[in-house]
Amino acid sequence: MGYYDDVSNVERYLQMAEGYDGRNLVERLEAYLPLGSSVLELGMGPGKDLDLLREKFTVTGSDTSKVFIERYLKKHPTSDVLLLDALTLKTDRQFDAIYSNKVMHHLRLEQMKVSFQRQQQVLHPNGIALHSFWYGHRIEDLDGLLFYQVTETELEAMVANKFEILEMKRYTEIEENDSLYGIFRCLK
Ligand SMILES: C[S@@+](CC[C@H](N)C(=O)[O-])C[C@H]1O[C@@H](n2cnc3c(N)ncnc32)[C@H](O)[C@@H]1O
Repeated sequence: MGYYDDVSNVERYLQMAEGYDGRNLVERLEAYLPLGSSVLELGMGPGKDLDLLREKFTVTGSDTSKVFIERYLKKHPTSDVLLLDALTLKTDRQFDAIYSNKVMHHLRLEQMKVSFQRQQQVLHPNGIALHSFWYGHRIEDLDGLLFYQVTETELEAMVANKFEILEMKRYTEIEENDSLYGIFRCLK
């Protein structure tokens, strides 16, 4: 059972994440993606970013946690939502863009690389990926949930020969420059 398959962990996350969303990231995505494009969100959690993305794009939410998915579907029963692991992305569908906000860091660095390979297949030609991470060199453990921080150099290596880097910048979520996002264009 994953960390977010436990309802009490989901409740704890919801309290912790109060007041945070990916509005600035969604705005950056708009710079590269025509309105109405199809966007798959990985690790949608409570769906705050999914709701922001929906204002501009045709969205599909996804997560590995049934608790988050069922919670969202209760509020939005007709939404397009998939049970999907960011590592394997087991779907036949294709999208114009893939978005995630603080999700990929739950994968080990070599798994992130595998995920980027799979994302290349799931994206339409010239598709866009936007992902945010915690910036740094540490691996942190929150009750068994691992957080692999990344640097620009590691991210560059992961996407090499698969994606062109359109933007890569540090930003502040809680502490000064504690986060890093990248926007990538598929090379296929
Ligand atoms: C920090 S929350 C972020 C949620 C959402 N992006 C937000 O900003 O509110 C991390 C989310 O990633 C999901 N997650 C963790 N590992 C995952 C994986 N391998 N594949 C897909 N989702 C995953 C968790 O279930 C959780 O919903």
